[in-house]
Amino acid sequence: MSSPAANVLRSSLAGRTVLVVDDSEAVRTAFDVLLSIHGASVVGAATPPEGLTTLQRQPVDLVIQDMNFRREATSGEEGISLFREIRRRFPEIPIILLTAWTHLETAVELVKAGAADYISKPWNDDRLLTTLRNLLDLKSARAEAQKLRAEQSAAREALAEQFDLCSIVYASQAMHTLVAMATQVAHADVPVLITGPNGAGKEVLADIVQANSAARGKPYLKVNLGALPNDLIEAELFGTEAGAFTGARARTGRFEAADGGTLFLDELGNLSGSGQAKLLRVLQTGQFERLGSNTTRHTRVRVIAATNANLRQAIREGRFREDLFYRLNVIELEVPAIVERRDDILPLARHFLEAGFALTPEAERALIQYTWPGNVRELQNVMRRACLLSAERLIGISALSLPATPTTSAEEPTLDRAAVEQALARAQGVVAQAARELGLSRQALYRRMEKLGLARPQSPPQMS
Ligand SMILES: Nc1ncnc2c1ncn2[C@@H]1O[C@H](COP(=O)(O)OP(=O)(O)OP(=O)(O)O)[C@@H](O)[C@H]1O
Ligand SMILES: [Mg+2]
Repeated sequence: MSSPAANVLRSSLAGRTVLVVDDSEAVRTAFDVLLSIHGASVVGAATPPEGLTTLQRQPVDLVIQDMNFRREATSGEEGISLFREIRRRFPEIPIILLTAWTHLETAVELVKAGAADYISKPWNDDRLLTTLRNLLDLKSARAEAQKLRAEQSAAREALAEQFDLCSIVYASQAMHTLVAMATQVAHADVPVLITGPNGAGKEVLADIVQANSAARGKPYLKVNLGALPNDLIEAELFGTEAGAFTGARARTGRFEAADGGTLFLDELGNLSGSGQAKLLRVLQTGQFERLGSNTTRHTRVRVIAATNANLRQAIREGRFREDLFYRLNVIELEVPAIVERRDDILPLARHFLEAGFALTPEAERALIQYTWPGNVRELQNVMRRACLLSAERLIGISALSLPATPTTSAEEPTLDRAAVEQALARAQGVVAQAARELGLSRQALYRRMEKLGLARPQSPPQMS
């Protein structure tokens, strides 16, 4: 009878091929017996050249290799050169080193050089299986992530070919969905409400809606309702008749000027009660009057409104008209904060760098981990300042001068799936190296991987 645990074990080893390079037939047989119980097949090789030939001939998921291949050899030299050769020719295959306790130092060096792990002889079967399972799961997760990334970038390109994406930069799936939605709703003649925090890219999204609408090429006007004093907002939107108030000249409002086109109303949450009533009327009937005039005018304008305020709460507090809200939010596009889509951070950062500038890996890591209260605009400013102030073309962490912000937990920074996957990919799946890069202990990274479903729940293999 097989326990659920045994089934889990089976699933990550079943169908996998493991190459064991060891001159001892007893060792090769021992692996064969152990791994075949769990559904993996073992290919044996007695010498390094034989091992390399096998790798050339057939697909192998993982290599377990000895360090010495002749009875009299003890230096580990042969093992080192075999390891280097496999890494060079098959960089994606994880390698586990089999070492005698006398070669522990060499093994540790090789782990730094990219070996996935080492096991000292005689080994503990459970520990070995745990290590194998972790490495193979990681390899699959990486392959899947890579496939997903390729699919996502193909989808992005297809969208960019079909629509005008107004030079928006993104890599995250969340943003892709949103941009695709913006292009879908663009042609409909209904208002769009864009919500999201400061600097997240609401206006960029508005531009995409306009650029792909029937009104592209027609007037596209933008009014920032937050930047105007309340009594001027209505004059700005609806215009004034000469003498409407002291010194007032006849002036066309934005609704009139944008006739037949699109009006972007930024910071909608700032509109006063009377402004809200007038906006509702023009949305419902297309009718309005200039301030100080009795003549009713007509206009046909697509309204795209944006706000970082919580309008639902404003409605509950009586500060925003519910009827206006429902009129405007026929289509609501919610732009997530950049920390909700960390995949976008590096592509945006590189986009904002001036030509010829680049980021060090540490700087990139710091950008990914920072909390970005000011979102994309803050990122843009940080990159501009860094290019301006950095003496060198390679921008390091100090040139970014990021404000110190607390991460969620002092010892374990919040890392989303993308950050972990990218670190693992850069470290070629070597957990110890990825952990170092992320500033985590190996155990902490395993815990994080478990949480993210990148590894199975189990204790990490202990290095003795
Ligand atoms: N995905 C993106 N690709 C390229 N540039 C972007 C992107 N998102 C934002 N930006 C740039 O970042 C800056 C801020 O974006 P935007 O003005 O659209 O934000 P916002 O949400 O309207 O901000 P606010 O709430 O302060 O009005 C702009 O200079 C914009 O061009
Ligand atoms: Mg804006």
